[in-house]
Amino acid sequence: MRLAFLGDLHGNSEALKAVLEDIDKKGVDEIFCLGDLVGYGPDPEDVVQEIKKRAIKTIMGNYDDGVGHSRQSCGCSYAPGRETEVGDISLNWTIEHTSQEVKDFLKSLPRRLSFEVENVKFLLVHGSPLSELLEYVTPHTDPERLQKIAQSTSEDVIVNGHTHIPMVRWVSGKLILNPGSVGRPKDADPRASYMIVEVRRGTVQAHIVKVPYDVKKTVEKIVKNNLPLELATVLALGQTFDMGPGKIEFSVRM
Ligand SMILES: [Fe+2]
Repeated sequence: MRLAFLGDLHGNSEALKAVLEDIDKKGVDEIFCLGDLVGYGPDPEDVVQEIKKRAIKTIMGNYDDGVGHSRQSCGCSYAPGRETEVGDISLNWTIEHTSQEVKDFLKSLPRRLSFEVENVKFLLVHGSPLSELLEYVTPHTDPERLQKIAQSTSEDVIVNGHTHIPMVRWVSGKLILNPGSVGRPKDADPRASYMIVEVRRGTVQAHIVKVPYDVKKTVEKIVKNNLPLELATVLALGQTFDMGPGKIEFSVRM
């Protein structure tokens, strides 16, 4: 069985299109989405409609919750400052630029999804099993906390998103996977990121896949829609707002 995991699409239809074309070319048995379909990017409606059209199994991210329920804030505990401000501006813009049908879909998404493939049990959650929408699980998460997360659930493989940074990590006999972000990478690589997982006779192999796409087109849409210009800058660079030396937590090049 070959599974594709994609997450943090963030209203970037050019990136999503490129990733889905790549998946179609490579061929997988099923595609799963780890949430945050919307927020930041200029095409929230199109991205949600594409996921709906393809009937891709999807869990809820914090931005899906924020837009679905028209909240004032996505509830993220960002690095303080401009990132939080820009996140909330984009949240409000997205609420204004999505249909009720899309909001109802986002609201209806489950916070976790479990399934079994060839005796390997998977758990999908946007943040962590202990804080489904908001916890950032990174290679720099305190080892004790990682153990607590791994031991909090009976599944063998935990697949999460939210950090926008790819990760493959064994913790207490469990595999923790993060495919990175399709629509707003933060690992210093602006290409769209997703993951293919092969399950054969009880073994699991995870491959991070990077896909170039038309970033310029997305940047132009950000500018045309009067979204904060910083969103275009970080997208083109694959960066966080906090771009000083040593501020990037983890980088994967493929
Ligand atoms: Fe996200």
